[in-house]
Amino acid sequence: MTIGIVIVAAGRGERAGSPEDGPKQYRRIGGKPVIAHTLERFLAWHRSGPIVVVIHPDDEALYAAATAGVKDAGRVITTFGGVTRQRSVYEGLRALSGAEATHVMIHDAARPFIDHGVLDRVAAALDGGSDGVLPAIPVTDTLKRGGSDGLVHETVPRSGLYAAQTPQSFLLSEIRSAHEKAAALRREDFTDDASIAEWAGLPVTLVEGSVDNIKLTVKRDIAMADEKLSQGVPPAHVLPDVRTGNGYDVHQLEPGDGVTLCGVFIPHQFKLSGHSDADVAMHALTDALLATCGAGDIGDHFPPSDMQWRGAPSKIFLDHAAKIVRERGGTIMNADISLIAEAPKIAPHRQEMRGNLADILGISLDRCSVKATTNEKMGFVGRREGIAAIATATVVYRGNTA
Ligand code: CTP
Ligand code: MG
Repeated sequence: MTIGIVIVAAGRGERAGSPEDGPKQYRRIGGKPVIAHTLERFLAWHRSGPIVVVIHPDDEALYAAATAGVKDAGRVITTFGGVTRQRSVYEGLRALSGAEATHVMIHDAARPFIDHGVLDRVAAALDGGSDGVLPAIPVTDTLKRGGSDGLVHETVPRSGLYAAQTPQSFLLSEIRSAHEKAAALRREDFTDDASIAEWAGLPVTLVEGSVDNIKLTVKRDIAMADEKLSQGVPPAHVLPDVRTGNGYDVHQLEPGDGVTLCGVFIPHQFKLSGHSDADVAMHALTDALLATCGAGDIGDHFPPSDMQWRGAPSKIFLDHAAKIVRERGGTIMNADISLIAEAPKIAPHRQEMRGNLADILGISLDRCSVKATTNEKMGFVGRREGIAAIATATVVYRGNTA
């Protein structure tokens, strides 16, 4: 199943104060055009197939400016809409038919708060075989029918009543034929796609929408949306991109003449066995650094099966991880290692170890920490069968790490 997306954005927004303020989908909320919010949410959803945005022929420049800062906006197909929403959807469906899609989600550009929870619920109903799916929320206000005399004529029972939202979603071929049939019969009065589906006899399944998924309709909606975004938790892109990674490693002890930990050789009646110089502390820290940018682990970069790393100083691995972090825009803020070993004593070597880390990572000594503990004679560490290390690294990234 491939879910194509049609976002209709060709309206004039008359109720929201167009033409003076321009169409509502290009107005800024939380520092960004409404349509940029909407598009970003679909572009970031893992099940989005081809995306079509239906714009007004007068809005080409507005659309280009509004989406200039939107990552991956280049993969969006645009087409021109018509004088009614129904006509705009029809044009969007036609444009989508040229792309690979079996199903379609039809969404209002003026609903920028659509969240992935709603999209997942709608998609799950399509997965379950529904021909049509409508996200909606139960009506909570008491409903009255008023008359032209200004008086209440009746109270309408609200049980079973829902407020329809978008994205309304369908089998692409079915909704397309329903739209074609409506167009052929000059039925142009449908305000949403579920009503066209109902009219064409397609079953439409209700799924839970979201109270946040409002349609910006009048000026006040736009002002409130702007307030909400400006006062609430700042969006991820304006926060410092601080990331933490952890790493764990363990190596076996075997009879020998000493161990290398954080690049310091410590004479001992055992040595650590394994890959390279078996510096368990640097290996754990290498993994912690790689973890901050999702760059895999030490084994991906330096396979243990590769003979060239035999006996190699582990400084090479740590250097490499730090280089990857820097290439992806990261600044290493600190590195912290805990060694878990019954022996040898780490404290006398701690300053030298910290110095080695500071040199390799290119950061100050106070940002490098090495600690050690015994395992109170318990388990494999307690029986002196091996030494373990846990590491944490914090990196601040600028820009995108992908
Ligand atoms: N829409 C469209 N083409 C139209 C009319 C509407 O693509 N001819 C889109 C709007 O851009 C909006 C969605 O359909 O994203 C929902 O419509 P509505 O809220 O009614 O928007 P407008 O028609 O722009 O507003 P108004 O009715 O106040 O003029
Ligand atoms: Mg309208």
